[in-house]
Amino acid sequence: MEQVRNQKMGQEHDQVDDMQQHGPFPVENLQASGIASLDIKKLKDAGLCTVESVAYSPRKELLQIKGISEAKVDKIIEAGMFSQFVVVSSKLIPLGFTSASQLHAQRLEIIQLTSGSRELDKVLEGGIETGSITEIYGEFRSGKTQLCHTLCVTCQLPLDQGGGEGKAMYIDAEGTFRPQRLLQIADRFGLNGADVLENVAYARAYNTDHQSRLLLEAASMMVETRFALMIVDSATALYRTDFSGRGELSARQMHLAKFLRSLQKLADEFGVAVVITNQVVAQVDGSAIFAGPQIKPIGGNIMAHASATRLALRKGRGEERICKVISSPCLAEAEARFQISAEGVTDVKD
Ligand code: GTP
Ligand code: MG
Repeated sequence: MEQVRNQKMGQEHDQVDDMQQHGPFPVENLQASGIASLDIKKLKDAGLCTVESVAYSPRKELLQIKGISEAKVDKIIEAGMFSQFVVVSSKLIPLGFTSASQLHAQRLEIIQLTSGSRELDKVLEGGIETGSITEIYGEFRSGKTQLCHTLCVTCQLPLDQGGGEGKAMYIDAEGTFRPQRLLQIADRFGLNGADVLENVAYARAYNTDHQSRLLLEAASMMVETRFALMIVDSATALYRTDFSGRGELSARQMHLAKFLRSLQKLADEFGVAVVITNQVVAQVDGSAIFAGPQIKPIGGNIMAHASATRLALRKGRGEERICKVISSPCLAEAEARFQISAEGVTDVKD
């Protein structure tokens, strides 16, 4: 996580000194280990822009890259692990074992992005975690998109104000992104509106293949500049329309799993907070007769397992919303109230 502290927003990655110490390391570094520049270009075309992404890729996946032979793949893997080891040997060796105390020290350094509501931050023990996937689900108007907008601004704040000192990336599958809203939120945090908008990279996704392809571009942009946040609002909407009926269910789940895996890779490689939203459906089973209709997030087990933290939003009175921590590796199952206002997510004003 140290790279987060050391790479201020907008700083270009060709400041090699910094990069040598803290990664993510550009895939070009593999040239020093004897990988030809033509092969490096092929890796980049396949979306592998950093040494980390190569080192984390299964061999099988590297073999699928056009024009790279099996022998070359093995050489690349070796180079990936080797340069990883050499460059960061004094810091950490991500591909081997490490002691729990070292891991503990690293976890303490993980940056959290404030949600805009102090009460919500409290149950999140600081805010939305960088380096992992947080899923936000809830029915329509429950505030998912509003929370995403707020995070696009807070991720740009200095660390001591609950920010991540990085840019935001927004993949919009529903067409509900509103820059105007960012200006209002920026005002509240005392940031310059024009700068805030400049620091948000926006892409509209039109279908699930397109949505996945955008992640390749995302990776190459993250190599260039420091991003602190990646949003996909919503991650599942296009899957509902691109794949319909039971017959396509397994194809849908496979495609979704691959997409989520790529997101996880971005979180691992670049330490960004990945925030995805998800829609819900009413669950119609026997229990509905007694307890009323229950809602559940879509995407099944694949979705449930991909996100480290799952948050459920529901409506309260008026502009009040309630967020419940559904699953997390370390947070308690607590609830927090917040409010939606013109300035994004805030504390409830009683
Ligand atoms: P879906 O995408 O439809 O599933 O919903 P969502 O969970 O993304 O809801 P969203 O975040 O878009 O929240 C919409 C809610 O925010 C609505 O209830 C709006 O009334 C409220 N809202 C949006 N803008 C403002 C605003 O400027 N002021 C106030 N007070 N409320 C707002
Ligand atoms: Mg929405």
